[in-house]
Amino acid sequence: VNFIVEDNDGNRQPVEAPDDMGFSLMEILKASDYPVLATCGGMALCATCHVEILEGKDGLGDATDAELDQLENLPEYFPTSRLACQIRISDVLEGAVIKLRGEDV
Ligand code: FES
Repeated sequence: VNFIVEDNDGNRQPVEAPDDMGFSLMEILKASDYPVLATCGGMALCATCHVEILEGKDGLGDATDAELDQLENLPEYFPTSRLACQIRISDVLEGAVIKLRGEDV
């Protein structure tokens, strides 16, 4: 699956990820050398994998309560905000635009 990632400087790059191996978006972002801390390792406990799904959010389904709890604790979050660790890579992400929102590291 192919999607676009916008980094903290506003630069957009295409990212290709396998959609049949069960990876999370957080894992793919880290593997692609984006600065995602993911301190909790994908447990929906740290919110350092905060991203905005600028385009392509519709097919993703709703955030879980655990995810929403973390997002609501952030100093700033948006209707498009999600935790990248809670998004499973699938063909739904084809053409999506994902903006990094984690702390600059
Ligand atoms: Fe901690 Fe996603 S990696 S909430």
